[in-house]
Amino acid sequence: MGKIVIAIDGQSGCGKSSTAKAVAKSLGYTYLDSGAMYRAVTYYYLQNPFDLGDAESVSRALENVDIEFRLNPEDGSQLTFLNGENVEAQIRQMEVSKSVSKVAAVKLIREAMVAQQRKLGAAKGVVMDGRDIGSVVFPDAALKVYMTADLETRAKRRLRELSADGGVYSLKEIQKNLAERDKLDSSREESPLVKMEDAVELDTSELKFEDQVNFVIDLARERIEKEETYASKN
Ligand code: CDP
Ligand code: CDP
Repeated sequence: MGKIVIAIDGQSGCGKSSTAKAVAKSLGYTYLDSGAMYRAVTYYYLQNPFDLGDAESVSRALENVDIEFRLNPEDGSQLTFLNGENVEAQIRQMEVSKSVSKVAAVKLIREAMVAQQRKLGAAKGVVMDGRDIGSVVFPDAALKVYMTADLETRAKRRLRELSADGGVYSLKEIQKNLAERDKLDSSREESPLVKMEDAVELDTSELKFEDQVNFVIDLARERIEKEETYASKN
């Protein structure tokens, strides 16, 4: 079977990463969580504060940031490493969620992350989720999905996840964080979250998880077939 790049973009909590993971597993593709990279830089920033508004200070900090993805030997899930340390749990904390959109709006930081994401996706056979995957990172992706869900549904889903991990948060606090990030991510100057014209919109508010996964898998199979037909004719 041919290999394509699948880009899944959308607001926080609409189901991008869990859907992307399930789609990648089913197709035998690699899943890449671009948000984890922005979260890792944010974690670094919180531990080693630097001036986000000063290019020199940002460049110096970026020289000390080495992000890697490794597979969890126990369950094959993706683990995020920052400078050789497993920071997968730390980057999911609310403290990081509260600052990540501010850090992700910085041009130099985005340029560094996008360059690494393009390298990671160069081999195709990749499902990557984020905010600018279909617009900036892989504008030629064979399949672009733009996911949405209403704010309350997204906040409830995130609360369930964080509570399962032992976190004690209120629905109100989570909803506030999601709304603030939605606003910053969609209004920033550098590669804001937008729905591309060639993206398929998928509202997951009323969907069952497996239905949304199957929807994306069916679309992917269609696009793979189309690419194979095109390749055989040329
Ligand atoms: O999982 P969740 O939807 O909460 O967020 P995420 O995908 O981990 O992304 C965290 C933050 O990173 C987003 O709110 C954006 O500010 C930023 N981000 C971005 O700017 N561009 C991406 N491609 C991915 C994430
Ligand atoms: O990556 P993003 O922030 O867009 O969302 P996520 O991390 O995949 O979180 C969505 C959560 O909602 C996960 O726990 C999913 O299992 C759950 N969920 C969903 O994605 N879609 C549904 N139709 C129902 C639940």
